Amino acid sequence: MIRHLLSAGDLSLDDATLVLDTADEMARLTEGRAVKKLPTLRGRTVVNLFFEDSTRTRTSFELAAKRLSADVINFSAKGSSLSKGESLKDTALTLEAMGADGVVVRHSASGAPYRLATSGWINACVVNAGDGTHEHPTQALLDAFTMRRHLGELAGKQIVIVGDVLHSRVARSNVLLLATLGAKVTLVAPPTLLPNGVEHWPCATSYDLDDALTGADAVMMLRVQKERMNAAFFPSAREYSRRYGLDARRQALMPPEALVLHPGPMNRGMEITADVADSARSVIVEQVTNGVYVRMAVLYLMLAGNATTEEAA
Ligand code: CP
Repeated sequence: MIRHLLSAGDLSLDDATLVLDTADEMARLTEGRAVKKLPTLRGRTVVNLFFEDSTRTRTSFELAAKRLSADVINFSAKGSSLSKGESLKDTALTLEAMGADGVVVRHSASGAPYRLATSGWINACVVNAGDGTHEHPTQALLDAFTMRRHLGELAGKQIVIVGDVLHSRVARSNVLLLATLGAKVTLVAPPTLLPNGVEHWPCATSYDLDDALTGADAVMMLRVQKERMNAAFFPSAREYSRRYGLDARRQALMPPEALVLHPGPMNRGMEITADVADSARSVIVEQVTNGVYVRMAVLYLMLAGNATTEEAA
């Protein structure tokens, strides 16, 4: 297993399969049990270092680390010396002095987790919890885990990813991971929301959502990231929803067993209607549950040394 998890592209097929299989084991050991705690990471310290807002990822990593009995320290920009302008280096040196074994970092700057992992400031394992518009590898792992639970092995499966690809670290990580797992990915977006160089990504692209939906095994809707937009990328919200939103009419074009995913947070009524988000085919809430199993697996594989999950049970 790799020492740091910075990019989904760093995971070989064996690595990715090991994480997904270990997440299955974490689910087996904790799902439906009154006591969900395993002693695996007792004595280890995990630091959640969040320079950017998060609901799902931060709480998911916190819960995952606590379920593995690690000590958890939460740093967020608000309420810590990060808000006083402390540098990434000084923050890292402070974490090192406290004996952090793992640092989970979210940052608005693409590459910040890489800087932390390679600077020599800390010895801890670094997990990228979302950096700018670059990557969000554990989101891609939990998405793959969720799809694999419903669809079986993902090799050959048709996955459609729709929307604001330009600003989406989720899309980039998903394309890389799903290609490694052998899935066929199609990105659907207006031309203005596809990044330069997307033709070199291991996926197809399309501007026609209705056409892409007809053969899909799963459709992943992306949030329109208005906070990262400094220009008019589409004429109006209404026009965007009409061309690229998933509503009941479009959902009916999908094969009956096809899944609907969204990484959250959702703009209901923009990229997805409320009835589709809450429909029987939606696995959006399940993605959140599965995120804990996947993050338990990642922390376990990176921090536990030679312990086995059975020993931990
Ligand atoms: N999917 C995701 O990263 O959500 P948060 O921003 O709430 O962590």
